Amino acid sequence: MERETWATRIGFILAAVGSAVGLGNIWRFPFQVGQNGGSAFLIMYLACVLLIGIPAILVEFVIGRRSQRNPIGAFHALGKSRFRAIGAVCVVTGFVILSYYTVVAGWVLRYIGGSATGAYFGSEEAYFLEIATGYDAVVLHAVFLAVTVGIVMLGIKRGIELAVKAMVPAIALLLAGLAVYALTLDGVVDGYRYYLSPDFATLAAEWTTILPAAVGQALFTLSLGMGVMITYASYVGEDQSLLVDSGSIALLDTVIAFLSGLILFPILFTIDATPGDGGAGEFFIGVGGAFADIPLGTIVGVVFFVTLAVAALSSAISILEVIVSYFIDEFGFDRRVATFGVGVIVFVAGIPAALDMGTFEVYDQVTGELLLPLGMFLLVLFVAWVVPEESLDELLKGRSGSNLDVFWLWWVRTVVTVAVGLTLVLSVYGFAVEFGLLAESA
Ligand code: PFF
Repeated sequence: MERETWATRIGFILAAVGSAVGLGNIWRFPFQVGQNGGSAFLIMYLACVLLIGIPAILVEFVIGRRSQRNPIGAFHALGKSRFRAIGAVCVVTGFVILSYYTVVAGWVLRYIGGSATGAYFGSEEAYFLEIATGYDAVVLHAVFLAVTVGIVMLGIKRGIELAVKAMVPAIALLLAGLAVYALTLDGVVDGYRYYLSPDFATLAAEWTTILPAAVGQALFTLSLGMGVMITYASYVGEDQSLLVDSGSIALLDTVIAFLSGLILFPILFTIDATPGDGGAGEFFIGVGGAFADIPLGTIVGVVFFVTLAVAALSSAISILEVIVSYFIDEFGFDRRVATFGVGVIVFVAGIPAALDMGTFEVYDQVTGELLLPLGMFLLVLFVAWVVPEESLDELLKGRSGSNLDVFWLWWVRTVVTVAVGLTLVLSVYGFAVEFGLLAESA
């Protein structure tokens, strides 16, 4: 059976942007800014997207387009089956991320209704604690997953591509509208100052904690380290310039994350909330508290959570596609059967996270801080040292050559390897301290 492809180039770019733009941009990004020194983090993050994110997208792209396979099959197709464990790390990471990502998305669905009826106004914390775990959370996790399964079942062109062509412009428009609304709030001056006035002093003093957080956020937001970009690029034709596409994708994702900050900080400063209070629930509690208070809060709340739900959906479909493509490519499964089967397994795997906040946090931490950087690090080493010639050749397709290609390989071998490797080492160290295997240094 012939392998599917994207119908259009813009379809591929929007699908990749749809994957990149998600809870990471709107939920995770502003709180990373808050926890890591405000504008100092913003500067480091922008540098990481440019210097590490874009070259790393290309690492996944060349593997995907060269092999025309899912992340595990890719290694076989490239004649390097020995390394297929790297692909397995990616797919397993995707599986775990999807199982709890859809739990958070379920909360978002709940908050659309909660904003419309004002159900959480005045009791934000109690509301979150009530809906976040338990029967309701399981049901909404199932509902969100069912929609995700429905889209992926329809395939690349008729499912994912059509869906993202509607979803991505909608997300951008809704966020732009919210950013204009945020301009009218009392907290806009303080919020912007906190977010935008360059703070090089903090950056210099705390770069050792800001750097790994910024690298981690850049990987997470660009959907790197779990084979999404390998899988999406495996449906791309050879006449397309991967280099240009990676730049467009990173730019659009960054603009949307930046816009989210322009919305969130004025909102939070209007009610004097401290943006640094992180944690999965704090976001919902803090933002919910603001909607209860600010002008037009009900309608703004609904629009905000609808945007968040759409953004989460366009990311969830990309993770599901990674796993589904594995079953289709390697075992010849029918797409519908594979999608349904994987959906059921992901549903079951997510139940513990939907029932218990402690378990949820373990899923989030282990994947985000450990498995994503690990997967990315291994992919980087593979491209840089095992298949460098093939990778360069792949990058040249669809464009006229320049020294940029050789520079890219050199850059991946040095800066990207060191930055992602360092992030991984710091994460492992952090875990070792947390689980008492190592004493914290003074
Ligand atoms: N990039 C998505 C976001 O920012 O929300 C999250 C994500 C999707 C992470 C897909 C990893 C992934 F493979």
